[in-house]
Amino acid sequence: MKFFIDTANLDQIREANDMGVLDGVTTNPSLMAKEGISGKENCAKHYLTICEIVDGDVSAEVIATDYEGMIKEGMELAALHPQIVVKVPCTAEGIKAIRYFSEQGIRTNCTLIFTVGQALLAAKAGASYVSPFVGRLDDIASDGILLVENIVKMFRYYCYDTEVLAASIRHTQHIIQCLEVGADVATCPLSAIKGLLKHPLTDSGLKAFLEDHRRVNEGK
Ligand code: G3P
Repeated sequence: MKFFIDTANLDQIREANDMGVLDGVTTNPSLMAKEGISGKENCAKHYLTICEIVDGDVSAEVIATDYEGMIKEGMELAALHPQIVVKVPCTAEGIKAIRYFSEQGIRTNCTLIFTVGQALLAAKAGASYVSPFVGRLDDIASDGILLVENIVKMFRYYCYDTEVLAASIRHTQHIIQCLEVGADVATCPLSAIKGLLKHPLTDSGLKAFLEDHRRVNEGK
């Protein structure tokens, strides 16, 4: 399973990349706003900086909601850098735009997926990725991981190449659950990725190893 980081924060992207396990980045308009990035030029500059830091796919979302607007914006985003994947919402206009981009050889990430049916439409239109939102379904007492599992099964059964990119990952256990159900990618906050490292037996084991080493080597 590939790991993407779900943020537009450059320090966090650098930190995750320095760990040596980062395969890509996803952003969305809320994450860009959180970093205070506004205006087309600044956004473009920011996406380019992310592409320089990380050697992998970088999702950049269109703001337009009409077909023509999405095409215009998506073409501009795709032209910025070969690593850019155009993120498009799962609406009727978005699905049409994904079909267009796919015919142009432009990679897309269909976002705001909450049902298997939406994922099917995106895959049929030629999306490179679909993004089911795990945490937001859990928030309303639904089952986000079950949705990821059902999309994975459907894509495997019908042999779609579209990758399942589990999004709205909120914590480390979500990552483990994504592994268990066969997601292709999980896009996660840095805290959830770092959470994978933690185990008290690792800490106590390392402490004991170092104490034993010191006792013999330093006579303590
Ligand atoms: O990639 C989509 C993701 O950022 C949404 O996450 O936590 O806002 O539901 P969240």
